[in-house]
Amino acid sequence: MFFLRCLLAALVSHTALALTPVGHTPSGKPIYVAPSGSRVKPVGRNMEVFAPNGSLIHTFVNVIPPTVTKGSHALAPRQTLSLAQATTPLTDPTNILESLNTSYTVPSAPTNFESQVIYLSANVVASDDNGVPFGMLRAVLQYGATSFWGGPYWTINTELEFLPDGGTLSISDPNFNNTVAVGTAISTSLVHMDEGDDIFWYAAGFDTAPEAPRLEVGWSTPVSVAVGLEEEGVTQRSSYPAESFTFSQTSLTLTNGAPKISWDLSSDPSTGAYITADVDGSENAELSVHFGN
Ligand SMILES: *[C@@H]1O[C@H](CO)[C@@H](O)[C@H](O)[C@H]1NC(C)=O
Ligand SMILES: *[C@@H]1O[C@H](CO)[C@@H](O)[C@H](O)[C@H]1NC(C)=O
Ligand SMILES: *[C@@H]1O[C@H](CO)[C@@H](O)[C@H](O)[C@H]1NC(C)=O
Repeated sequence: MFFLRCLLAALVSHTALALTPVGHTPSGKPIYVAPSGSRVKPVGRNMEVFAPNGSLIHTFVNVIPPTVTKGSHALAPRQTLSLAQATTPLTDPTNILESLNTSYTVPSAPTNFESQVIYLSANVVASDDNGVPFGMLRAVLQYGATSFWGGPYWTINTELEFLPDGGTLSISDPNFNNTVAVGTAISTSLVHMDEGDDIFWYAAGFDTAPEAPRLEVGWSTPVSVAVGLEEEGVTQRSSYPAESFTFSQTSLTLTNGAPKISWDLSSDPSTGAYITADVDGSENAELSVHFGN
């Protein structure tokens, strides 16, 4: 058995980058797909993707930033993403994220399709020692992108994105129709799973569609959260929905319960989209994305 495992490990290490991208985002970042129920786990600076049957199917190499030694110079954050997000730092390793839930209604489709991709989601965010995010796990409402991976309609999926340009792991499930109609009510959850190891495990899924794609990701350090918009390839207002988009009943719980927080709000400098906290705090918050003028 041990020999077989070594043999398997040897074979696998030769094909460590087993998945080939199914496509690229408008800015050229690779998109990989894995089966629903896949798990991704940190090993050193790599993140390893395991299929539901336990086989290693892909390794994202060196996507976890190195630990910063004390006194070394902080790197300036590399900002290549177009985000309008509500964020809150969670820094206490004894009081970690237990769940982040939110609900929304699928908005009207943009009137202009230019292969843009719009992601609307609550995210688990992993950051380096300087607080610069390098990975996001999300249950996402997505508009646009390629004919293989989305199109001029809304879809739901679970995804893991590595920043700034490490690529995206998305779920492909031939048995699930992930296109969602305008007006559909959706609830998503990101939930901590205690597996008795020293990894911070989170599952992303859809409470309104339990059979929808699921993805579980483990991190070596405690995570924080972000809720909002990420886009690529939007060049004009009509490439966004006409109306604002609201994340309602947004609830954040930590080990010690609901924390007292006020969301930090950012805007997307490239398109003017921004987010407001119409109801602030960690219980039943309402966060609205405004897509500019
Ligand atoms: C495990 O799942 C992967 C991904 O679906 C598949 O490629 C592989 O053949 C499976 N392995 C076994 C032993 O079933
Ligand atoms: C969030 O969703 C999970 C999964 O449905 C649920 O177990 C949990 O109670 C929810 N938390 C809150 C604060 O609503
Ligand atoms: C998938 O769902 C969408 C939205 O409900 C629907 O319009 C479409 O016909 C469905 N596709 C298939 C192949 O069932």
